Amino acid sequence: MANSIENNSPIPVSNIDGAELQTVAVRAGHHRTHELEHSEAIFPTSSFVFNSAAEAAARFSGESAGNIYSRFTNPTVQIFEERIAAMEGGERAVATASGMAAILSTCIALLKQGDHVVCSRSVFGTTNVFFEKYMGKFGVETTFVDLIDVDQWREAIGSNTKLLFLETPSNPLCEIADIALLAELAHQHDALLVVDNCFCTPALQRPLLLGADIVVHSATKYLDGQGRCVGGVVVGRKEHMDEVFGFLRSAGPTMSPFNAWVFLKGLETLCLRMKAHSESAQVIANWLSGKDAVESVFYTGLETHPQHALAKKQQSGFGGVLSFRIKGGREEAWKFIDGVQFLSITANLGDTKTTITHPATTTHGRLSDEGKARSGITENLIRISVGLESVDDIKRDLQLGFSASGLE
Ligand SMILES: Cc1ncc(COP(=O)(O)O)c(C=O)c1O
Repeated sequence: MANSIENNSPIPVSNIDGAELQTVAVRAGHHRTHELEHSEAIFPTSSFVFNSAAEAAARFSGESAGNIYSRFTNPTVQIFEERIAAMEGGERAVATASGMAAILSTCIALLKQGDHVVCSRSVFGTTNVFFEKYMGKFGVETTFVDLIDVDQWREAIGSNTKLLFLETPSNPLCEIADIALLAELAHQHDALLVVDNCFCTPALQRPLLLGADIVVHSATKYLDGQGRCVGGVVVGRKEHMDEVFGFLRSAGPTMSPFNAWVFLKGLETLCLRMKAHSESAQVIANWLSGKDAVESVFYTGLETHPQHALAKKQQSGFGGVLSFRIKGGREEAWKFIDGVQFLSITANLGDTKTTITHPATTTHGRLSDEGKARSGITENLIRISVGLESVDDIKRDLQLGFSASGLE
């Protein structure tokens, strides 16, 4: 019987075999302690004790499994890892201190000097800098290509290419990569496809099931969902995750138990939140599309989006992030942003609170002018991460932006 308790032993674990994603998001990975707590316990301890010197030696040598030290073994973090691995359909997950630490750990663990990476040009600005400047410094060269141009990916691959990296949908222009197609291409060349699944989360898209090898997340975004903690995670096959774990153990870009607990609480509502974010974003995208003061709207849920059909095929929803080009330039965009009353002017996304940002001078501000031009990051581009406030209130606030811009 599920959840049976016999003299407190064995400790009950929810039986969720064959459960749907929403159930997995709420329950997977929870191994109760002898206190039989209902909500997952937080273990704010740096180390764990052993019953004897021999037990300590066995743990350190790997002969026996168990906790040692929270840089690499912590029960709260492990619940988060098991849950997100189950949600993404991966064999193992490794939690990290941030989304960038997830990307760093993946690359350091799986690449070596002389290897080559092909990366989408439409990635988070810091990811771009990470590959170009820091991986380059250690002899791993990166070629940047157009996310949606498969020929460019094909042509960029060389005999030393080990990894293809992309975000889909992209930030902030919501372009879509065909994950299955690029996975096939990567595998033809013995390379790995790594997908940053930050925008969709497993609630809307499961890249591993489409053929990708590794998924990385900035848990800071929708996995938390309420803008509280910075964290990240890598998910994939055991052979690769064991390497990532080895790097984490040796280098220490570790998630704290408290943050892991916050992310666990976030995962429990993820499916519901992503549905609500998607519904409101669709309403806002439709509304913006009808505005004379708007040049173009970028949202995969719009039938006019050039990859709407692909988005419909590989995603189960269109997500909460959209962007649009206002008529004019930086001046109009900044006036618009300064004109809103309650939307938060902040670079974060994936929050219950709607956020608004000017990518050209914030998230993508470190790109060169040429880089911005190639990535479509124009001065009149505004990104909105649609939150969970009333959609009518969000519209009313955006209308204040239009008035302030002088365009309406
Ligand atoms: C798509 C994407 N990936 C990775 C990151 C980096 O995550 P973190 O800020 O948690 O390091 C971000 C941050 O905004 C992001 O938007």
